[in-house]
Amino acid sequence: MTTQDQKSVNQELIGVGAGYIKSMVLIAGCELDIFSKLIAEPGLTLDDLCAKHNFAARPLDYLLGSLVAQGYLKKRDGKFFVQEKYKSALDLNSPTSVAHMLRHQGSCLRGWSQLAYTVAYGAPAPYLVGVNGAEAEGVDFILAMNDIAESLAPTVAGRLKERGLLNFTRLLDLGGASGTYSRALLDANANPDATAIIFDRPVGIAEARAKMSETRFADRVDFYSGDFYVDPYPKDVDFVWISAIIHQQDEDATKLMFENSYDALRADGRVAIRDVFINAAHDGPVAATTFGLNMAVRTQAGMVYESDRVIALLGEVGFRNARLALPADDMTAVIVAEK
Ligand SMILES: C[S@@+](CC[C@H](N)C(=O)[O-])C[C@H]1O[C@@H](n2cnc3c(N)ncnc32)[C@H](O)[C@@H]1O
Repeated sequence: MTTQDQKSVNQELIGVGAGYIKSMVLIAGCELDIFSKLIAEPGLTLDDLCAKHNFAARPLDYLLGSLVAQGYLKKRDGKFFVQEKYKSALDLNSPTSVAHMLRHQGSCLRGWSQLAYTVAYGAPAPYLVGVNGAEAEGVDFILAMNDIAESLAPTVAGRLKERGLLNFTRLLDLGGASGTYSRALLDANANPDATAIIFDRPVGIAEARAKMSETRFADRVDFYSGDFYVDPYPKDVDFVWISAIIHQQDEDATKLMFENSYDALRADGRVAIRDVFINAAHDGPVAATTFGLNMAVRTQAGMVYESDRVIALLGEVGFRNARLALPADDMTAVIVAEK
């Protein structure tokens, strides 16, 4: 290798190592809610922001400068404004916002920063909660799921419909968060009178109630607040939707989840599992390998499953015809089985 080639390899690696810096600038802007504040009151200065929100001037000066340099803000005569292009995406209160997802990414990043610790010691590093506190991180997580699912859920529901797999009368959305998939599945379902029940922790149910009340599905959705590892499942449903859940737990918990789903279903019912699945060699697809790390740095037992293993577990608890109905290299793969 020439000296020049070596230099460019070194630069490349240092650039990869510094990749977190741009991310952190944007994420800190969201965690401190700089964008919504400047959208509500355009033209605030550094001193205004410090006085109103008790921020520290020295780091805020550099943060605002970086947000300008990266193109998210503009500055005129010492006054800051959010660039038009980013307003609806970065305003926490906008229906098209991804700010909760960016805040959740901040929380992920606090885990990822200790990836080596996790590999060395076999457990997530002690978690350092973010500036908004644990409760707000819980809400951000639920709303981040909505940020991702808002555009994906109708696509996934549409694909299930195309394959004749959406004809339920009563849906159980296990770990349904704020109900984004419930809405999409009800919307695409063949039966216009079908109902749904969202089963989630209190934080998820609070957001689901709020979001669902603004939709035409408000009187077709019930809410069940609890812990699906402890509390009994609602019964007499004919579709159990387990979306982005099994990766947070080990095989025993997943098998029990399938058994409980089987018991909850009517004789003709169906279960569907949406997730990202890893190949047998555990070296792809990329989304699966990285998601495995995401689970390793934040959970004790989370994992990415091979689709064949999920299919086998479904068979072991009595489901028929378990199959990868929607293959995909990302979190939009869906396995389906019938009772
Ligand atoms: C990764 S999110 C998936 C949300 C949604 N199903 C989706 O696909 O967008 C996991 C959801 O499961 C919920 N959850 C996790 N553990 C739970 C438990 N023990 N009992 C009830 N809900 C739980 C979380 O609150 C969260 O809403």
